[in-house]
Amino acid sequence: MSVRATELELAEPYLRQVLASAGLDVGYEAADGDILYRLDENNQRVPVLDLVGGFGSLILGHNHPEIISYAKELLDSHVPVHAQFSRHPYANELAAELNKVIGREFHTDEPYYAVFANSGAEAIEIAIKHAEFDRFVKLSELSGDIAAHIETARAQLRGGHAVVDPGAYAAAGIVAPADQEAGFEELVAEVNRRNGELLARPPLFLAPEGSFHGKLAGSVQLTHNPSVRVPFKSLAAQARFIPAGDPGAIRKTIAQEQNAALLDLTLEGRTVTVTERQFPVFAAFFLEPIQGEGGINLITQEFAEEVRHVSEEFGFPVVVDEIQSGMGRSGAFFAASHIGLRGDYFTLAKSLGGGIAKISVTLIRASRYRRDFEIVHSSTFAKDGFSTNIALKTLGLLEAADGRAYRLAAERGSRLKAMLEAVQADFPDVVKDVRGRGLMLGVEFHDQSESASEPIRETARAGFFGFTLSGYLLRAHHVRAFPTGSAINTLRLEPSIGLTDDQIDQVEEAFRAACTLLREQDGQRLTQG
Ligand code: F0G
Repeated sequence: MSVRATELELAEPYLRQVLASAGLDVGYEAADGDILYRLDENNQRVPVLDLVGGFGSLILGHNHPEIISYAKELLDSHVPVHAQFSRHPYANELAAELNKVIGREFHTDEPYYAVFANSGAEAIEIAIKHAEFDRFVKLSELSGDIAAHIETARAQLRGGHAVVDPGAYAAAGIVAPADQEAGFEELVAEVNRRNGELLARPPLFLAPEGSFHGKLAGSVQLTHNPSVRVPFKSLAAQARFIPAGDPGAIRKTIAQEQNAALLDLTLEGRTVTVTERQFPVFAAFFLEPIQGEGGINLITQEFAEEVRHVSEEFGFPVVVDEIQSGMGRSGAFFAASHIGLRGDYFTLAKSLGGGIAKISVTLIRASRYRRDFEIVHSSTFAKDGFSTNIALKTLGLLEAADGRAYRLAAERGSRLKAMLEAVQADFPDVVKDVRGRGLMLGVEFHDQSESASEPIRETARAGFFGFTLSGYLLRAHHVRAFPTGSAINTLRLEPSIGLTDDQIDQVEEAFRAACTLLREQDGQRLTQG
């Protein structure tokens, strides 16, 4: 007998089973601030301190009261959620407000145009597409120039006003023929063939190792972790990944790939020669100022400066992905502002929706913006009346009282970090590193794959250690903190600016207890307790 769909769990049941193996398949029924509520066996609400924070979407916490009441107001007023192909005053206002922040943090008055979308990966896809559109337009112009030069050379040659430079044949890699005109046409055919081959090549992107920019067909190519990227690598243009701590490696990587030039036939006086035109191999450099999913790694100022230098030298844009690090989490609206890294593009998502709306945006500086992109790209839900209004409200709350939210993120973050460093100082055998900035922190644990305790050793060898630790913190201490797929030994902490001292104490108690179990190699209590 066949199984009926209604009898099956169908919403990613395997993922739930994986979570269940660490006791993480909990259902929550409500959320407020930094608390998620679950029900116990007696149907009583149990508060869980949530440090996962919607993977960084909750800088203002769950269900912030002012955002909730504003959302109700919007719905009661019958806000036009969908009015595609009309004026979008809210989106425009939001873009203007975001521009004020860019101007303040990067000391510029150059405008940034906003292209809205619905998720982080989508904002990245827009950046990928816009960068490639820009490269395409430049290449089309270049091809047009070359075609015009060839026409001019042909006309001059036929009129007997020019000759082909004998060296031109060698430069194009062909044998010089006897007849000038036939020779010229052979040269043209070879130039067109070589250029055609090059023009058909997909672009390359650059990104530091450890990068995470999403999991859609294009954006996943910029996500370093091979286990999620490689199965899909045939789907779109590829990236070259650069060791994040090694600014010197940027130029080396570029040099390895920047090995081809377009050929042009130009007139030097009365001589037709072959000249080389730089072929833009790279479409863009993507980077997160603070890598999130990669395990909380800060990009250095030195690395950022080198990225800016090469981008100017080779003409490709720098895309600063602030999807996780932005919206104040680092103690400034843009984490890149701490290292003076002004993006040609910025991407925002996650907390932009105030914890309830799904919205993202790609901001592109005017000097690099191709307005025709607005005609060739679109999305049904993007720029809708609900999400743009909620984002505007969220931005207003962050900017209020002269940026009190940013100061809070810095202050709460350093307090949390100081506590974690104290734990590390007491358990250096267990905690390997504490890093991050503001409310974007990571606690890295020492590798346990040689643990004396079998359950600990097994989970470490299965690449599941961080989740086992998460399960313990949740069961025994009602604290929710996860590692990431790319940094399994690092727990990521991204609470809201509302995190209290008592909550920090709760985290401390939980982490100290976990560290004690690990020091004692008490696998039994860690996996079941
Ligand atoms: N860029 C960054 C820096 C991100 O952290 C993420 C998602 C994305 C892009 C993609 O956004 O999920 O809305 O499509 N990061 C999550 C994480 C998944 O765990 O860090 P999305």
